[in-house]
Amino acid sequence: MEVILVRDAAEGALTAARYFKSQIQKKPTSVLGLATGSTPIPLYRELIRMHREENLCFSGVTTFNLDEYFGIAPDHPGSYRFFMKQHLFDHVNLHPKHVHLPDGQTQNVESHCAEYEALIKKGGGIDLQVLGIGHDGHIGFNEPSSSLASRTRIKTLTQTTVNANQQFFRPGEQVPRHVLTMGIGTILDSRQCLLLAFGKAKASAIALAVEGPLTAKCPASALQLHPKTTAIIDHDAASLLALREYYREVQTNKPEWQRV
Ligand code: GLP
Repeated sequence: MEVILVRDAAEGALTAARYFKSQIQKKPTSVLGLATGSTPIPLYRELIRMHREENLCFSGVTTFNLDEYFGIAPDHPGSYRFFMKQHLFDHVNLHPKHVHLPDGQTQNVESHCAEYEALIKKGGGIDLQVLGIGHDGHIGFNEPSSSLASRTRIKTLTQTTVNANQQFFRPGEQVPRHVLTMGIGTILDSRQCLLLAFGKAKASAIALAVEGPLTAKCPASALQLHPKTTAIIDHDAASLLALREYYREVQTNKPEWQRV
């Protein structure tokens, strides 16, 4: 996987936003895979700025989010639909009909998940998927032990993830234990992935994902099988990578035509 080392989250967000801009300019009808969590927030802020100041147009773009909590309404402030509206959808010219998240209130989980997969396929597949990483190496909500070939389905969160996501809920309010998430197989089908990780707390997950063995213990390690994944990692999150110097050399010597 390609590794781009950046100073901090701000520089990481700018770098990731350039990938999105170039993708949308190349193909105005791009299908984007979106993520939640605190990591992509500065990326979305930058995309909103590009929309306002540089005419980046989302009118032809379709989006699919990785995941949604199961059992909460879309207008619940803890829901990922609410998060996406707040951080991106309400601020750019995405057509509401082109925006997709799993429905956390579906009555029929199995058929809804199969429909979500079919919708991605019908849209032509995801061109560019952004990913954060959990402290335990999860991507989307694919917790350790997830099948590396999994498709969209219901999953049970680990206590670590529940604790980490408590910040997005009111104090004392319960974080849902169940979620609907694209599978690792679904993510690997994307044409390009951007894995973002900022801060010391992500260092061990990143070391395992980028340089560790391919294992369901670290679901993000499955990205090693993906032909076009770029990891954008800040100084702190990269601190346990053994090949840091090599990644820097690769970056410095990257041919002009490969730069985004
Ligand atoms: C949640 C999301 C993931 C995200 C992870 C990390 O579990 N489902 O997509 O990558 O949190 O969150 P943060 O970016 O807040 O560290």
